[in-house]
Amino acid sequence: MGAIWSMFFGYGGSDTVDEKTGLTEREKNILRYTWKGISTKPREYGPELFLQLFTKIPETKKYFRSLKDKSNEELRKSFVLRAHGATVVNSLTSVVESLDDADCLVSLLKKIGTNHQKIGIPVALFGPEFCELILSWLENSLGSSRFGPTERATWDKALSVIMSVIKSAYDEK
Ligand code: HEM
Repeated sequence: MGAIWSMFFGYGGSDTVDEKTGLTEREKNILRYTWKGISTKPREYGPELFLQLFTKIPETKKYFRSLKDKSNEELRKSFVLRAHGATVVNSLTSVVESLDDADCLVSLLKKIGTNHQKIGIPVALFGPEFCELILSWLENSLGSSRFGPTERATWDKALSVIMSVIKSAYDEK
């Protein structure tokens, strides 16, 4: 209901920019509100993100040792994918919950970067193609009435910040 809600009531929050995140209070409210639709069902929405990732960027599948040889049908039934999808959604929930605590936010994101570098995920995967994929996944999951142009633009802005902090942790000593 985000898009409809915002049309009638607005999201609330000031337009003053938080210097550390580059986000306004209103934008943070949009992120919190839309993410609530995902965070309540991590095992439902999480796996779908990975199914879309494997379809759009097929080379990503090879990094998941226990999933790489499974068909899409097998993947849909896989508890490993459900668990993994839920882990990723829960990790992003911590990110959204830390929007007002920039130091914690940066630390969480850098940890994602260092951990993914350790398991051999190329830094380039945290790029525009992945951001676009997350935006379509949010739209498909929430529907266009809850994820309209305002929500998309805000997530687009937030995702570039998120990805740049994740990437900055690669090769950081
Ligand atoms: C912002 C997006 C992402 C988030 C929040 C995220 C989060 C996580 C988390 C929380 C874990 C569990 C281990 C840990 O603590 O690091 C994990 C594992 C993993 N992630 Fe990600 N991830 C993201 C993007 C990606 C991408 C783009 C790939 C590309 C293939 C990837 C591949 C993996 C793999 C292979 C594992 C290990 C899986 C296993 O065998 O358990 N992740 N991720």
